Amino acid sequence: MSAIESVLQEHRVFNPPEALVAKAAISGMDAYLKLTAEAERDYEGFWSRLAREQLAWHTPFTKGLDESNAPFYKWFEDGTLNVSYNCLDRNVEAGLGERTAIVFEADDGTVTRVTYQDLLARVCKLANGLRSLGVKKGDRVVIYMPMSIEGIVAMQACARIGATHSVVFGGFSSKSLHERVVDAGAVVVLTADEQVRGGKVLPLKSIVDEALALEGTEAVRHVVVYRRTGGNVAYQAGRDIDLATLVASQSTTCEPEWVGAEHPLFILYTSGSTGKPKGVQHSTGGYLLWAALTMRWSFDIKPTDVFWCTADIGWVTGHTYIAYGPTAVGATQVVFEGVPTYPNAGRFWDMIQKHKVTIFYTAPTAIRSLIKASDADPKVAPKNYDLSSLRILGTVGEPINPEAWVWYHTEVGGGRCPVIDTFWQTETGGHVITPLPGVTPLVPGSCTLPLPGIAAAIVDEAGGDVANGQGGILVIKRPWPSMIRTIWNDPERFKKSYFPEELGGRLYLAGDGAVRDAERGYFTIMGRIDDVLNVAGHRMGTMEIESALVANPIVAEAAVVGRPDDTTGEAICAFVVLKQTRPSGEDATRIANELRAWVAREIGPIAKPKDIRFGENLPKTRSGKIMRRLLRSLAKGEAITQDVSTLENPAILEQLGEAK
Ligand code: WTA
Repeated sequence: MSAIESVLQEHRVFNPPEALVAKAAISGMDAYLKLTAEAERDYEGFWSRLAREQLAWHTPFTKGLDESNAPFYKWFEDGTLNVSYNCLDRNVEAGLGERTAIVFEADDGTVTRVTYQDLLARVCKLANGLRSLGVKKGDRVVIYMPMSIEGIVAMQACARIGATHSVVFGGFSSKSLHERVVDAGAVVVLTADEQVRGGKVLPLKSIVDEALALEGTEAVRHVVVYRRTGGNVAYQAGRDIDLATLVASQSTTCEPEWVGAEHPLFILYTSGSTGKPKGVQHSTGGYLLWAALTMRWSFDIKPTDVFWCTADIGWVTGHTYIAYGPTAVGATQVVFEGVPTYPNAGRFWDMIQKHKVTIFYTAPTAIRSLIKASDADPKVAPKNYDLSSLRILGTVGEPINPEAWVWYHTEVGGGRCPVIDTFWQTETGGHVITPLPGVTPLVPGSCTLPLPGIAAAIVDEAGGDVANGQGGILVIKRPWPSMIRTIWNDPERFKKSYFPEELGGRLYLAGDGAVRDAERGYFTIMGRIDDVLNVAGHRMGTMEIESALVANPIVAEAAVVGRPDDTTGEAICAFVVLKQTRPSGEDATRIANELRAWVAREIGPIAKPKDIRFGENLPKTRSGKIMRRLLRSLAKGEAITQDVSTLENPAILEQLGEAK
């Protein structure tokens, strides 16, 4: 049975615990329906009311939504505000200065606490430091840092002075970093000497040096280095400066730069259908509204909560639910440097117990790998830890299979914590389809219902609505405040990718297939409908990996597809034709490993193909098009049922069936 069939046949329903409903921000289905009706009645007024209630505006906005240049929508445009003011000063002014903002746990278990007052001071110092380097409103700053207090401070400091940040995940290679630095036109790169994960020390600064040695990076004037390990790294005189030196003499106050609501807060690169990553551009006002609102709606955050999102700041989840959401609502959060399996696979449970975490937000891949680990070694099973502090669990990034959902609910949540399966994307800025803890009866594997005001729907290839129970294309029919504003440097690609003419040009195309069940209208996500893979919750373009492979001088041709994987959801499978004769035996294993290492250097270790198969050719139609469907069947190890009469050389199917 496929994962989708198993979700659609899922009849277990978990009602929200009554005690939670009573105190929830949105309490009960009626309250949800009331909000949905309000949005229906007066869409612009609904979001404007919330934007006024949730955020502190320097200059109030007079207009909610501007659709005059659709699909380049604008929200709250004539209002001005500052994100860092909203996340820090506002909390301090409200008397929360002594509240712990961040409980940071390092890889080796060392814990550091930072109050809102401290965090504000540190952000101001770095903001002043960046200004002293000449960074101005609208300049781009690339952040290539490990999970750290400093990483969050760096993002907030950029926001404070109106610089647009672009965080690059610390696992990306120098080439990937270079591509992003050039596309963003960064003037400063913030990094660390090294990062520490799972007991290993990994380089960062030397990768920045490699990236900046490549062409097109002349705009980068400075590299600011946070000394995480104190390891020996090269410094380029005049360009490189220690973060500690930069901030040493700076003041702990810094006047925020008041920016328009549409000012780009950040650019975050993500994979699309073509080779080049897309710089997803987000706004200031609409984005921050979402970060704050969804902390309250989806996670029901309260002053007594300890929130922990296990994502990395290099991904959008680490932006909205680490750097901005928790701070915007004055919450206490845990930030973790390391990995779930070090020093053993009980690390998450140990940290929940130690820090009395109440809301825990992680990815299905992590859950699946921890299920396996606790099956293999019962000592690291959640039941050995006191997890009674938990009240809400969340997941994000990929579909969660009902088995993993039920384990999470039972073994981690003790059967009392709702599992909030949040569907969203880099482009949506925050949750769009998700259960609400005090509202939604849960069905394992379904992300249930759209947030109030989110016009999610399922359509066919011509943009027409499809009936519940039938699968189709997931779209959102109306703009919402935290949506992507454009693709940096490429507005045409923005229009084509997200508002395609085939669907009428006004529907936001998520890129996922989905189905709603007939009974409740609940949404279940069926996975990407484009050439994007989702491996362990990381988005990877097949074309990106193919271009990396063919850039290797020994490779003639390559095609990449995904196949289902028990732990990572999907796994990368590459079909490769070499310029030399097709290798076999040990030769093939050796070359496959060389190609994996090559892809790790070209893109990053997360893009390494799990399977590599060599053929003398790829299956193509007469017109020369690669038959990807056939490759997907081969990757899964399925029998070939498609018509293969057009294949030039059917014998290659046998060759390509052999994994290396
Ligand atoms: C997938 C991550 C099923 C989906 C926040 C989407 C999900 C892509 C879920 C975006 C979920 C995310 N259930 N699938 N709850 N959440 N996805 O941009 O395919 O890294 O399009 O954003 O992840 O990945 P991204």
